[in-house]
Amino acid sequence: MNTHYQRLGGQEAIRKLIDRFYDLMDEDPDYYGIRKLHPADLTESRNKLYWYLSGWTGGPPEYTDRFGHPFLRQKHMPFAIGESERDQWMTCMLRAMDDMVVETDLKQELKAAFFKLADFMRNRTG
Ligand code: HEM
Repeated sequence: MNTHYQRLGGQEAIRKLIDRFYDLMDEDPDYYGIRKLHPADLTESRNKLYWYLSGWTGGPPEYTDRFGHPFLRQKHMPFAIGESERDQWMTCMLRAMDDMVVETDLKQELKAAFFKLADFMRNRTG
C-alpha cells in the first residue's frame, strides 16, 4: 500500500503544494485572517509545514528529526483559532490541492485527515 507521501508525488510535489498554499494565503484577502497571524517572511513557515507534512504523510520524518515531538496544538495556542481560522486554513489547502491536481480519491482522504487536525487546533469558540 503506497503512502500518502508517495501518492502525492514525494518531496518535490509536497514542496510545491506547500508553496502554493502559502502563496495563496499571502495573496488572497480571503485568508488575511490567518495570514496576519504568520510572520511577514513565510520562509520558515513554508519549511516547517513541509517538514511536518513529509512525516505526516508517511515520508521521511523531517520535522521530528529536527525538533522532536511537534506538540502542534500547544504551538498553536498563542494564536486565536476558531471556526473561521480553521475554515480559512482548510479552504486555502483545498485550493492548493486543486491547483496541484491532486487525484480525487487522495484529495478526499487528505481533506478528511487535514480537517481532523485543523479542527483539533481550535482553541477559541466561534
Ligand atoms: C487551523 C488553522 C491554523 C492556523 C490559523 C495556523 C496558524 C499557524 C501559525 C500562525 C503558526 C506560527 C507561524 C509559523 O511557524 O508559521 C503555525 C505554525 C505551524 N503550523 Fe499551523 N495553523 C493552522 C493549522 C495547522 C495544521 C492543520 C497543520 C498541520 C497539518 C499546521 C502545522 C503547523 C506547523 C508544523 C507549524 C510550525 C510549528 C513550529 O513552530 O515548529 N497548522 N501555524
